[in-house]
Amino acid sequence: MKYQIIANWKMNPLLEKEALSLFNSIRKKAEKFKKSEIIICPPFLFLFLFKSKISKNLKIGAQNCFFEEKGAFTGEISLKMLKNFKVEYVILGHSERRRYFGETDEMINKKIKASIKNKINPILCIGETLKERRENKTFKVLERQIKTALKGISQKSLQRVKLSLAYEPVWAIGKGKSCSEREIEKASLFIKKILAKLYSISFLKRIKVLYGGSVNEKNAKKILKEGRVEGLLIGSASLKKEVFIKILKEVEEI
Ligand code: PGA
Repeated sequence: MKYQIIANWKMNPLLEKEALSLFNSIRKKAEKFKKSEIIICPPFLFLFLFKSKISKNLKIGAQNCFFEEKGAFTGEISLKMLKNFKVEYVILGHSERRRYFGETDEMINKKIKASIKNKINPILCIGETLKERRENKTFKVLERQIKTALKGISQKSLQRVKLSLAYEPVWAIGKGKSCSEREIEKASLFIKKILAKLYSISFLKRIKVLYGGSVNEKNAKKILKEGRVEGLLIGSASLKKEVFIKILKEVEEI
């Protein structure tokens, strides 16, 4: 089993040369990190720079997409277009997209269906807000997000892709303080329980549960081991080459 280590660059860096330098420094070392599948998700513009540089261990992903294939949708990018750029993964339903761009569970469901159609592996983000956690609604929210996002998607159609679910508590994103390993483990087990209601137990092995939210070089190994997750979705710590490489080194030691 390889851990999925995903770099979510968000709206960074500003310059092409910075993006190239960051990508190249990871690429130089990527083959050494046997236990990780490294997936770099830069802003759309930079995908073009990296499409000829991917390898077995180093893939590229998009941070979003639109579910329609083509047409009059100003400002949008389709999965068919992404496919042309050797994009193998797409992050869907990130809490920043839900919060700032009004993405609903129903829209995310359409995007997942479109990603399956185009054979691009979806990384579905789910997670509760601080208010929801305080009101003891964490599991209710996770269940709704999973069930709506996967509504109408059969096991047979899911076989076309590798699905990952990233548990990203909204209150732990970009805060410098991650969720505790114990809480991550509880959420991870709960997510698997919900998935088990939708798909067969043997099929669940194909679905990875990941964690994201203030992952850094100090907590990465512990989260993977004690949080019982099969990968990490990393925001700010993926923008510093030394830090991201340190995380990959830590994963090798598990
Ligand atoms: P962070 O972001 O690592 O900066 O908390 C994670 C994410 O939003 O995916």
